Amino acid sequence: MKAHIVLAHPEKQSFNGRLTGVSEATLGTNGFEVTVSDLYRMNFDPCEAEKHYTVRSDDAVFHAQTEQRFNANNGSIPADVSQESDKLLNADVLVIHFPLWWFGAPAILKGWMDRVFIYGKVYKSQMRYDAGICRGKKMIACITTGASADSCSFDGREGDTRLVVWPLLFPFRYIGFDVLEPMILHGIGGVASIEAHEDGLSDLDRYEESWRDVLSGLDTRIVIPFNADSDFGEDKRLKPNAPSYSPFVSHQKTTLW
Ligand SMILES: Cc1cc2nc3c(=O)[nH]c(=O)nc-3n(C[C@H](O)[C@H](O)[C@H](O)COP(=O)(O)O)c2cc1C
Repeated sequence: MKAHIVLAHPEKQSFNGRLTGVSEATLGTNGFEVTVSDLYRMNFDPCEAEKHYTVRSDDAVFHAQTEQRFNANNGSIPADVSQESDKLLNADVLVIHFPLWWFGAPAILKGWMDRVFIYGKVYKSQMRYDAGICRGKKMIACITTGASADSCSFDGREGDTRLVVWPLLFPFRYIGFDVLEPMILHGIGGVASIEAHEDGLSDLDRYEESWRDVLSGLDTRIVIPFNADSDFGEDKRLKPNAPSYSPFVSHQKTTLW
């Protein structure tokens, strides 16, 4: 079994860097062949742009999906992206480490998705959702927040972080993954204590322990429910008797404004 880890953090000595080390060691001990994409250390360019394509379908106008599909069919996907997409597609388990930055993923991770989820190779209209290329594979995100668990709860000042991260996880469902319940570790650099408690462990040590346990229990971790393709009608809207699993795909318009 192969596990691929993606780290989106500029500092290797950060808590995210430390957790990535835990992932590498734990998954290795658990029998996985582990690869790591440390995006900052790789100097990964997250900006999808025409400069990456030496061969073009249309030299006059750059249209990202057109060039991705053309280069996928032509065997000329940019080398950095080709390597990343191979690692993604070869993995049985994908682990993503990132800090929450402005209620989203750091730009380097968003850009990794923009470039590596290649139209024509990683997805196309007949190859997404239930028919996604990554079906049967698992992905789990380990996300840190600066804000406390209370601030990030359903009635907290920062908004419900589970809702905030749903759109970050959905692309992985789009390409077919079983998306496991993410690990969200709060108060890093804030209320989470780096001082040891009576048992000799700090809050960060405890987080590290619980992350190790999560990695060792991937087979029983909750898989986030998403609607099946058959839950939608011809008009691509939820059928009246289909289940709804989140406010993002619902029978009623959520009141926001
Ligand atoms: C650009 C930037 C934006 C941030 N935005 C958020 C945020 O939206 N919510 C939050 O709880 N923390 C936010 N933080 C704090 C980080 O999430 C926190 O410092 C990080 O999770 C700590 O982990 P680390 O030690 O591995 O960096 C932000 C930090 C930075 C640098």
